[in-house]
Amino acid sequence: MSYSIVLQPSGLRFTAEAGQSLLRAAEDAGVVLPSSCRNGTCRTCLCQVREGEVTHTLEWPGVTREERAEGWILPCVAEARSNAVIDAPLAASFD
Ligand code: FES
Repeated sequence: MSYSIVLQPSGLRFTAEAGQSLLRAAEDAGVVLPSSCRNGTCRTCLCQVREGEVTHTLEWPGVTREERAEGWILPCVAEARSNAVIDAPLAASFD
């Protein structure tokens, strides 16, 4: 299963496979998102889901319950469950 992910405001797009972190899926497509620890701790990669379903792969990622309710995610430890639109203002393309 794969899902289409659109980043705002850049309009960059990539495909995320089920079971693949959004950070890794973006990188595989040549899209750079800010990152550091890559294990859900540092919050460098924090961004916000606008549409679609994204779930964390850790029970306690470094976002609060309230933040999660508002759509904030850590894409290094999150994967798509549907097509999604994500606010990621610092996203850039390798190109
Ligand atoms: S890179 Fe550190 S929380 Fe995602």
